[in-house]
Amino acid sequence: MKLSAPDIAALAKPGQFVSLQVNERGMPLLRRPMGVLSAKNGFIEILFKTAGKGTELLSRKTAGESISVLGPLGNGFTVNERLKHAVLIAGGYGVSPIAFLHEKLKSLRIKTTVIIGAKNKKLVFKEGFNLPEITTEDGSLGFKGLVTGRLEKTCSGLSCGTSAVFACGPVPMLKAVAQVSEKHGIECQVSMESMMACGVGVCLSCVCAVKEGIDTGYKRICADGPVFDSREIVWRT
Ligand SMILES: Cc1cc2nc3c(=O)[nH]c(=O)nc-3n(C[C@H](O)[C@H](O)[C@H](O)COP(=O)(O)OP(=O)(O)OC[C@H]3O[C@@H](n4cnc5c(N)ncnc54)[C@H](O)[C@@H]3O)c2cc1C
Ligand code: FES
Repeated sequence: MKLSAPDIAALAKPGQFVSLQVNERGMPLLRRPMGVLSAKNGFIEILFKTAGKGTELLSRKTAGESISVLGPLGNGFTVNERLKHAVLIAGGYGVSPIAFLHEKLKSLRIKTTVIIGAKNKKLVFKEGFNLPEITTEDGSLGFKGLVTGRLEKTCSGLSCGTSAVFACGPVPMLKAVAQVSEKHGIECQVSMESMMACGVGVCLSCVCAVKEGIDTGYKRICADGPVFDSREIVWRT
């Protein structure tokens, strides 16, 4: 969905999200967070899968309608100056922020390897990527299996200080990606997901467990994330 939102488009960075009021009156009351797929020329794009009430209503919007959009929200991916090779991993609709990051890395002339995973070929979004590696769980497109199989192969050829993995997708996938990256000593940034109520750091409905020395603390995915260094996360799934 393409939205005219000049202020957001001017500010949005890869990994940030927007929060949409899908119904002006009635249910669902809460806004729905969506990753930003692109932001240019006064427009932002989002990519969504109809999963329930909110996305169903969103899918019924027609050209010219107005919708309240809050954003850009959260903290996006960090690209450090030493980065020479980025491995981008997208699972399901997690492809949205990864596609936006891919555009930025292309403009910085940083080498990318893109690995996209989905349940089946109908759910693969590969627009804008140059020869991505694709994995599907049912083998209907690309390699049969999970993204981590391809990541293992890629990681073994990477040099630690100048490479990094960037991932967005379901939490079990992020956990597996983090484990493979950490095993190879490669820095990994993960875009975490949870149900959100306020989306702006007030209600604490979106916290994830993080390491604080030898203790466990909590951070808000909406305001402190959604992107975190994978080594910070206490994985619970
Ligand atoms: C930072 C962030 C970015 C997101 N980006 C996108 C995006 O780019 N595209 C997109 O389609 N969706 C995205 N989502 C999820 C989105 O906000 C909605 O929650 C989801 O689309 C379902 O909304 P719904 O109202 O249609 O479904 P609901 O009626 O609220 O729920 C339908 C089903 O989906 C499950 N569900 C709802 N929300 C989530 C969630 N966040 N994680 C896991 N399961 C959930 C519910 O438990 C239920 O089983 C993002 C979420 C976060 C937190
Ligand atoms: S959704 Fe309210 S604090 Fe994150």
